[in-house]
Amino acid sequence: MEERLAALLATARQRLAAARSEDEVRQVQVDLLGRKGELTAILRGMGALAESERPRLGKLANETREAVEALVAGKQAELARGALDRRLVEEAIDVTLPGKPLPSGSLHPITLVLEELKDVFLGMGYDIAEGPEVETDWYNFEALNIPKDHPAREMQDTFFITDEILLRTHTSPMQIRYMQRVAPEVPLRAVFPGHVYRRDEDATHSPMFTQLEILAVDRNISMGDLKGTLLTFARQLFGPDRQIRLRPSYFPFTEPSAEVDVSCIFCNGAGCRACKGTGWLEILGAGMVHPRVLATGGYDPEKYSGFAAGLGLERITMLKYGFSDMRDLFTNDLRVLSQFKGVRA
Ligand code: PHE
Repeated sequence: MEERLAALLATARQRLAAARSEDEVRQVQVDLLGRKGELTAILRGMGALAESERPRLGKLANETREAVEALVAGKQAELARGALDRRLVEEAIDVTLPGKPLPSGSLHPITLVLEELKDVFLGMGYDIAEGPEVETDWYNFEALNIPKDHPAREMQDTFFITDEILLRTHTSPMQIRYMQRVAPEVPLRAVFPGHVYRRDEDATHSPMFTQLEILAVDRNISMGDLKGTLLTFARQLFGPDRQIRLRPSYFPFTEPSAEVDVSCIFCNGAGCRACKGTGWLEILGAGMVHPRVLATGGYDPEKYSGFAAGLGLERITMLKYGFSDMRDLFTNDLRVLSQFKGVRA
């Protein structure tokens, strides 16, 4: 019987040393100490022992049970430690690895140009204001000296919503809205950026595009002030060597009116493909605010005068960044937009 107990302990040592999982340990425990296990079988033999031998062997059996239980507990602890160690290794985070870069966006080239323009005019003391894209016929045309039957309405193919409501075809209605807001305060200096709409679409026209309207009203504002302001703006935007020229033109809301050209930013006036050999690029329309428009805005044309100009941001963006098709500014192709990553206005 002593031998059998010693053998049981030896088996326990051996099997537990070889065990790789908690399940295996549990199986050893069942086989050796369980109700139908080895130890139970040995104890059943107790009855055959001499009375005098029983206490000693009973004690030895108990000690063996305790020894096996201690071995089992030790092995379980070892396995649990191993599992923890493995997890610590597997789940370790190397904080020195480089991070995954977050995808970053970029400012749209039109936004870049707009921010730059705002800076130029803020620097000259101008306010910035915005107004509605859904506009009335009155603000878009009538108040700007373009009555219903006026042929100038056909220069701008209009999206009408009703007979009297439309999508503004230019930012010029903001001249009226802003004058009405601040009149008769002078000096008035403000720019009005925003989207405008015309039924037009090809490589150099889009049904929705962006304008910046420039308006100044004061006593004794002259064409010279207009030219000086536009020259300052052209040089800040396109470089200090730029020249501008004013060609006579016609707008119903300015008198006199002019188309304004800037010396070609590509050939510096020598003549190239971009300027079609002329040395000049047309960038905006301008003029002295028509007396009737001043009066409608709330300024006495006998006392005050003003200049106004309107320019298309898409055209300037195309020139500045070398776009040849305006539609590339609106398709939001990431291959195009991502080229402006990191570019700041
Ligand atoms: N509103 C004109 C256009 O859209 C531009 C312009 C604005 C001309 C102000 C003169 C004065 O073409």
